[in-house]
Amino acid sequence: MDQPRKLHIKSYGCQMNVYDAQRMVDTLAPEGFTETANAEEADLVILNTCHVREKAAEKVFSELGRLRVSKTAAARDGRRMTIAVAGCVAQAEGKEIVRRAPVVDLVVGPQSYHRLPELLERARRDGHAVDTEFPVEDKFDHLAPPQPAAIRRRGVTAFVTIQEGCDKFCSFCVVPYTRGAELSRPVARISDEVRRLAEAGVREVTLIGQNVNAFHGPGPNGSAWPLGRLLAHLAAIPGIARLRYTTSHPRDVDDSLIEAHRDLPALMPYVHLPVQSGSDRILAAMNRRHTAADYLRLVERMRRARPDLIFSSDFIVGFPGESDEDFAATLALVRQIGYAGAYSFKYSPRPGTPAAEMRDMVPRAVMDERLAQLQDLIDGQQAAFNAASIGAALDVLFEKAGRNDGQIVGRSPFLQPVHVDGSADLIGEVRAVRITSLKTYSLFGELAGGRRAT
Ligand code: SAH
Ligand code: SF4
Ligand code: F3S
Repeated sequence: MDQPRKLHIKSYGCQMNVYDAQRMVDTLAPEGFTETANAEEADLVILNTCHVREKAAEKVFSELGRLRVSKTAAARDGRRMTIAVAGCVAQAEGKEIVRRAPVVDLVVGPQSYHRLPELLERARRDGHAVDTEFPVEDKFDHLAPPQPAAIRRRGVTAFVTIQEGCDKFCSFCVVPYTRGAELSRPVARISDEVRRLAEAGVREVTLIGQNVNAFHGPGPNGSAWPLGRLLAHLAAIPGIARLRYTTSHPRDVDDSLIEAHRDLPALMPYVHLPVQSGSDRILAAMNRRHTAADYLRLVERMRRARPDLIFSSDFIVGFPGESDEDFAATLALVRQIGYAGAYSFKYSPRPGTPAAEMRDMVPRAVMDERLAQLQDLIDGQQAAFNAASIGAALDVLFEKAGRNDGQIVGRSPFLQPVHVDGSADLIGEVRAVRITSLKTYSLFGELAGGRRAT
């Protein structure tokens, strides 16, 4: 083993990056790296970047500006600080990053993380290294699995990537270019990973993918399994109390997934189902390949299978050509569904995507106004949903100690943070909590007694 070295990794963007960051840490552990929260003292800093909107992509360069100062300070102390850019900006911009920010030693795309040890060696030898290939080998087969100590440190909830990439090509989106073609992991690999997590104390697993319900990984006899079947299989693993999945596409919700919501108590009744717009004209221009009515019908069907199902979504305001009527249709759809929360974004043209070539850009001031209006509406729905929980008994999976002494925090089935007075021994357990009050986005309650058989 090499000298002990310190690694600082900072992730932007979606949960895929959170998961990848952990796997990079796991892969670099045998090389002698341990994690530090302090970039200044790190021997290796990895920025795990997001390219989905311009703002996200530009953050990287301001962060690199700050790191340049740290790297110079480290060199003054006789210490070499290696700076790596990973994630979707790395994939999209490749060696252009080194040109624009020479402080960068290493650029590595999301499909090449298993090559990190060798890339670090190459960067040391040659001054820099860039790898944004889509290699033939599957990175998941080569990334180190998490060790029990690392799993325990990360807590009782975990993400597991089950598919990556996207073949949908929504006209505004860079993901199919940065993450490549849709690829599902084999069922056996996923269940091994979930079993390993459960054995180290994980109680809740969120299956993740850019298009998670496009999952069609090979089962034991080689035939493709849909997500619903995978969920049923994982729900049977001892120790797993809760399952979630994200992000799903309305086009890929099939019968197996609806049945899973009907049949699996472990599958939490909260679904992130992005719709982007409520206008059929805009949905078509976005290449989403469904209408607002299709989406409403789907939500209805899912709610029939599991009546307490609640939804969250993503929206884009100001897509090229979006008129007042189009935007009004989005507000109407939001009113019809009633969301427990949503992310809304101003449209950001991304280089290389078809929408970036479209005319009829919506003026910035109009985008600002629409965003504020949509966010107001959704905030109101979220507040009403949270307020309706007061007086209810909700199952809570306790995740960590609270801010105040003697307090613990967990999440309801609907992902609401719930705070109670209780012993840290309850971390990792699911208990019924009577909700007594609400402060902004957090619920407060009392243990309702009675232990759930989970
Ligand atoms: N696979 C998911 C979304 C992944 S990107 C899906 O199909 O819904 C996460 C969110 O970022 C998207 O849902 C969208 O709302 C937003 N987004 C993506 N590209 C964008 C762009 N060019 N401008 C603004 N928002 C964008
Ligand atoms: Fe992007 Fe559309 Fe694929 Fe989602 S489904 S990742 S928005 S191209
Ligand atoms: Fe961003 Fe890449 Fe995720 S662009 S949203 S980090 S897939």
